[in-house]
Amino acid sequence: MVTTNHLMIMFLSLIFLLHTASVALSDLRPAFYSKTCPEAEFIVRDVMKKVLIREPRSVASVMRFQFHDCFVNGCDASMLLDDTPTMLGEKLALSNINSLRSFEVIDEVKEALEKACPGIVSCADIIIMASRDAVALTGGPNWNVRLGRLDSLTANQEDSNNIMPSPRANASALINLFQNYNLSVKDLVALSGSHSIGKARCFSIMFRLYNQSGTGKPDPAIDPDYRKELNKLCPIDVDQNVTGNLDATPLVFDNQYFKDLVGGRGFLNSDQTLFSFHQTREFVELYSRDQYEFFDAFVEGMLKMGDLQSGRPGEVRKNCRLVNVRPAFASSDS
Ligand code: HEM
Repeated sequence: MVTTNHLMIMFLSLIFLLHTASVALSDLRPAFYSKTCPEAEFIVRDVMKKVLIREPRSVASVMRFQFHDCFVNGCDASMLLDDTPTMLGEKLALSNINSLRSFEVIDEVKEALEKACPGIVSCADIIIMASRDAVALTGGPNWNVRLGRLDSLTANQEDSNNIMPSPRANASALINLFQNYNLSVKDLVALSGSHSIGKARCFSIMFRLYNQSGTGKPDPAIDPDYRKELNKLCPIDVDQNVTGNLDATPLVFDNQYFKDLVGGRGFLNSDQTLFSFHQTREFVELYSRDQYEFFDAFVEGMLKMGDLQSGRPGEVRKNCRLVNVRPAFASSDS
């Protein structure tokens, strides 16, 4: 028998579903929060400025989030979700475990935003704003970001494992991967220029120092002097969490990364391969000569990558690590 209570529950569930569906399809646009949280972009930048002074590398670590978020089911902050008893999240996925860091920076930004405008600014948008700020604050270009994303209701470790590229990847595998997202060869090379800031672990380069492609030999593309430096940093019995700089100026967002690639001084195999491979090499050479070309292409790539969306329903999380508590009427077994 259908009671008034049941009818009420059905009605509320319908409202809930309509709400999530309608926001999920919303378009991304600049100044999305101009009415609902006009201070949002200033608040994010302010926290990022403080973070940069406190621990300079952490802004690079946060910028990396945009890549690891957007490639796995769209830019929806799924990678920020902690594991739960019923969900293996993305934090422990192959490319993320012992590697992604500075999650606390996002918490800090979120806390500041929740204070100013509770429940308005999504964690997915925070990643996009904070990544832009990381670049702008370290000497790179500044740009207007499109906002209005929703946060996912779940995360998927397996998808991250299947999608995110290994540091061993070669240029043609990377070209194919990026193509799946409508990102061109030019986008791939420009976005790899994000390695102009930050660090990586010895773990990510041991094979290329000691056993490239199972040869028992180092990668011949490494400049001999640079290889000596890397061997010293990462001897065969090193603690593989020891880190090295991704380019010669790891705190400045500039085109030094591309100059390093031309000189055989790329840290990761996935970096150096961009100079070895004919299709990507012309862009490496161009960006090594012309920083403005690099900056323009980088901004274009970040905007395109930031537009990736899954189309799944979402919400604005209160805490970026957890989905919001669902009202009882909206749970699947009600
Ligand atoms: C093209 C394919 C890419 C591959 C294979 C790749 C791989 C990696 C690896 C292996 C590390 C070091 C991880 C470690 O040793 O712990 C790293 C660091 C980093 N990646 Fe990428 N990456 C790619 C593209 C990107 C993109 C598109 C971005 C951002 C737009 C990005 C931003 C960063 C940053 C900023 C760091 C340094 C992070 C830190 O210092 O904590 N990467 N990447």
